[in-house]
Amino acid sequence: MSSPVHDPARTSPRDQARTPPPVPPPVPPPVPANGPANGPVNGPVNGPPPLPAVPLSDPRYGPTHGPVRDPMAGPRGPAATRPRGPMSGWRLRDFEDAARERLAPAHYDYFAGGAGEEITLRANEAAFDRLALVPRVLRGAGIPETGVTLLNSRASMPVLVAPTAFHRLADPQGERATARAAAAAGTIMIVSMAATVAVEEVAAAAPGAELWFQLYVQPDLAFTERVVRRAESAGCTALVVTADSPVMGVRERDVRNGFHDLPAHLHCENLRDGPDGPVRPIVMWPELSWEHLAMLRRMTDLPLVVKGVTHPADARLAIDHGAAAILVSNHGGRQLDGMPAAIDLLPDVVAEVAGAVPVLMDGGVRRGTDVVKALALGAAAVGVGRPVLWGLAAGGEAGAAGVLGLLRAQFEEAMTLCGCAGLAGLSRDMVRDMIRDTVRDTVRDTVRDTVRDTVRDTVRPC
Ligand SMILES: Cc1cc2nc3c(=O)[nH]c(=O)nc-3n(C[C@H](O)[C@H](O)[C@H](O)COP(=O)(O)O)c2cc1C
Repeated sequence: MSSPVHDPARTSPRDQARTPPPVPPPVPPPVPANGPANGPVNGPVNGPPPLPAVPLSDPRYGPTHGPVRDPMAGPRGPAATRPRGPMSGWRLRDFEDAARERLAPAHYDYFAGGAGEEITLRANEAAFDRLALVPRVLRGAGIPETGVTLLNSRASMPVLVAPTAFHRLADPQGERATARAAAAAGTIMIVSMAATVAVEEVAAAAPGAELWFQLYVQPDLAFTERVVRRAESAGCTALVVTADSPVMGVRERDVRNGFHDLPAHLHCENLRDGPDGPVRPIVMWPELSWEHLAMLRRMTDLPLVVKGVTHPADARLAIDHGAAAILVSNHGGRQLDGMPAAIDLLPDVVAEVAGAVPVLMDGGVRRGTDVVKALALGAAAVGVGRPVLWGLAAGGEAGAAGVLGLLRAQFEEAMTLCGCAGLAGLSRDMVRDMIRDTVRDTVRDTVRDTVRDTVRDTVRPC
């Protein structure tokens, strides 16, 4: 079963002919903002100023007591001793605005868009706004320790780079730049099967990066196994099996923009059939089942993360079929439109799993307090998709590092303000659902008033 027409991950017939080994394409010249849809642009535009090289992080720096950390600072870098980058003070929205300015409109829409009417896409972010944090005080917690170990991979913070396709649409270095930014932040990057740089090259570009590999199981199981072996040889330490894509969700922005394929110089390099072979189209496979997960379990020693689990019963099945972790995700609102927000799906899955395996989540995480909310509701870590793409498009490696640094600074600040010495200090009672509380209070008050009025009328003296 081949992927549907709206899947830009489909490779065109040209890819299926034998093609020479990938040659880095020339960097396209800058185009004006909102210029033609001709690929990545990091040149001068009418938006934010061009970005000089920014020193990346140094994990030797200690914790920060300063008021607001430089988003460009690396792991636990003290703001006072850090050179301040040109994006200092930027919020995540600023990165997105800069990305929108710099990207061809169809490419911006490809990254930003969701399936259908984008109900789920909007819900993912809105749900975090509905949740409020109730901090604990006077715990003497000090500066929080934010490192986590996930499936034997160490991350300096519980914020991972979620797998996203086509990074070379955002920056000529593509996934190489993202991997370097993730390595500098000391966190895990999940390399997409639909990456525009081969997983071996991603690993080579960022020695020391902790990489996991995301897999769309292909019906050609021999080919699937070759991809798994490539990920293993490249040094990936976990396999993230995407389970929510039996077909590709229809993204109406892509349909409107006529964005159905990568530009001619870009390919999904992990789909290349042999070093000099053609690039296969990615197949979204409706027959994919739990049996294939069990098959993968036998095929590789890598821990399996099942991505796209949202129903508690499926979380149980995933564990029964060998999953070492579960990633609660609605694919950033890009698959089934009308699903609940990912953060709203998390608690039931956490309850069902009951600590048997780590539960991760992604979708709508846009600030450090969102990370705290997800962790308080039971997530072991969160993934961020679009935010990293905005950083990459805004400023290449430094921009992606800036986004990760901003999230780290905000997360550390929020943890400190919540009185948490570490992730264990968070608990579910520290998150309030404001709408649920309002409904509960309204119902309680209405019932109380009705009962009071009824009693008064009933016992009124005649
Ligand atoms: C442009 C784009 C491409 C994506 N490509 C993939 C992919 O190749 N494989 C995958 O499993 N998920 C993919 N995702 C989904 C992400 O892994 C993740 O679930 C989602 O982006 C999280 O939502 P957020 O963008 O709000 O952080 C993609 C998401 C976006 C936005």
